[in-house]
Amino acid sequence: MRVILASDHAGLRLKEKIKKYLARKKIEYEDLGTNSFKSVDYPDYALKVAEKVAKNNNTRGILVCGTGTGMTIAANKVKGIRAVAAYDAYSAKMSRIDNDTNVLGLRGRFFPLEKIKKIINVWLDTPFSGEKRHKWRIKKIRDYEMKR
Ligand code: RB5
Repeated sequence: MRVILASDHAGLRLKEKIKKYLARKKIEYEDLGTNSFKSVDYPDYALKVAEKVAKNNNTRGILVCGTGTGMTIAANKVKGIRAVAAYDAYSAKMSRIDNDTNVLGLRGRFFPLEKIKKIINVWLDTPFSGEKRHKWRIKKIRDYEMKR
């Protein structure tokens, strides 16, 4: 699996730490920016990552902004993207099991790195349950997207 990641200026510090963490875990990643603390607009980065994840199998996205909220809202506008803003390991895990999320939104400000690592770990390692009811619910979202 390949991870595509990006942040805005508020998430940059954490993104750099996440890259080191992924490298240590020998997970391949691609960094789509930002690479400076100059203020940027989070949708530009979220949409770039989301488009790439939607087009490529076996890829997942990780997005970091101040809260994780803006990035997640923007990513969810791209067809085929199911993004979660996770503040704990439980929501990250369940978002994989029930919702087959393919993008993880993280909070870059005032949040402990150890918790972030736990969230990333569980999110990357937990498979989708594949259960019929969950597939059916995801299909409803997909069908709605395709009508628009
Ligand atoms: C930028 O100040 C901040 O609004 C952004 O990083 C993010 O938290 C938006 O949801």
